[in-house]
Amino acid sequence: MAAEQVEAARVLEALRSVKDPELNVDIVTLGMIEGLKVSDGTVSFTVNLTTPGCPLKVQIEKDVRAALASVPGVNVVDLKMGAKVRKSIETQGDLIPEVANTVAVGSGKGGVGKSTVAVNLALSFARAGAAVGLMDADIYGPNLVQMMGVKGKPEIQGKTILPVPALGLKLMSMAFFIKEDQPVIWRGPMLHGAMKQFLGDVVWGRLDYLFIDMPPGTGDVQLTLSQIIPLTGAVLVTTPQDVALSDVRKAAAMFRTVNVPILGVVENMSYFDCPHCGERAEIFSHGGGRRAAESFGTAFLGEVPLDIRVRQGGDEGRPPVVHDPKSGPALVFKEIAEKLAAIISVNTYKKYEQEMATRA
Ligand SMILES: Nc1ncnc2c1ncn2[C@@H]1O[C@H](COP(=O)(O)OP(=O)(O)OP(=O)(O)O)[C@@H](O)[C@H]1O
Ligand SMILES: [Mg+2]
Repeated sequence: MAAEQVEAARVLEALRSVKDPELNVDIVTLGMIEGLKVSDGTVSFTVNLTTPGCPLKVQIEKDVRAALASVPGVNVVDLKMGAKVRKSIETQGDLIPEVANTVAVGSGKGGVGKSTVAVNLALSFARAGAAVGLMDADIYGPNLVQMMGVKGKPEIQGKTILPVPALGLKLMSMAFFIKEDQPVIWRGPMLHGAMKQFLGDVVWGRLDYLFIDMPPGTGDVQLTLSQIIPLTGAVLVTTPQDVALSDVRKAAAMFRTVNVPILGVVENMSYFDCPHCGERAEIFSHGGGRRAAESFGTAFLGEVPLDIRVRQGGDEGRPPVVHDPKSGPALVFKEIAEKLAAIISVNTYKKYEQEMATRA
């Protein structure tokens, strides 16, 4: 028994030399090691990454094996790579205690592709293995049911509502409750009530990420929403041209007003690759998203091309991330999702570190 304890301690010591490259902190301090057992030269444990789709998985696994190779007496390494997404939000009254992160997708302007980005990002996270929810907060023009190709309706159980499972995530939208082509007229308290219900009365269950598709604009409604919904942060979507950029600045200012961190900027309709001649055309100019991100001091997450498959996929309820996962746009969304997941992990860790420092 004593020998085993010594060995476990030595194993942990060796594992302390492995750092998460993004956080630059060792994996033992980060609490990534679970279920460590040492027996007759066999070491078994799980390394829990901070997000399931982590592109650094292969690197970290290699580093872990290399670190243990130099420990005398370790003959077999039975290593599992898992993931545990940490909670970054505290919700007043804990409306959604089992939701770890909430990400709003917003823009100052209509029609720039918020809903398209929200759908394809949420699906990219789900395909990477995360538990994902998608909430349509665009109460005036809810599009997500159509974009996801959902036919079913939410089940109501007493006071609670079950979100509709679709393409590997859970969806909730006002479109489930209104008649098609019927306008929705909201007054402040009704909006407040509806959004509270969408959080508190919907049985989201355990979620790693809940994506929220925001309505266009930066008026009262958007401001109220960003206050009601506890947010890990916001992703801003813009098209590259100057007129759209001035609107995204307003959106950034709005989120800042309510202390919501801006996680990054996506430039949508960034360029068009002609399927016939192969030439690239920058219809709405180019590079504005990156410049906007720099001026907000936030990350530039990526450029989504203007692509007929994205538009068709949206109209027909066949998002490219699921129905054409090898296509250019789907790969771009996957890359953006990986960047975003890393940013969320780093922010969560920094927040945790700050809390520890203030307590000490
Ligand atoms: N990268 C793209 N390539 C081609 N079409 C796109 C792209 N992004 C969005 N679209 C199309 O542009 C239209 C507007 O997109 P979307 O509904 O996502 O914008 P939005 O910002 O959510 O709009 P709203 O402000 O009305 O909520 C849709 O028809 C969508 O399919
Ligand atoms: Mg929309």
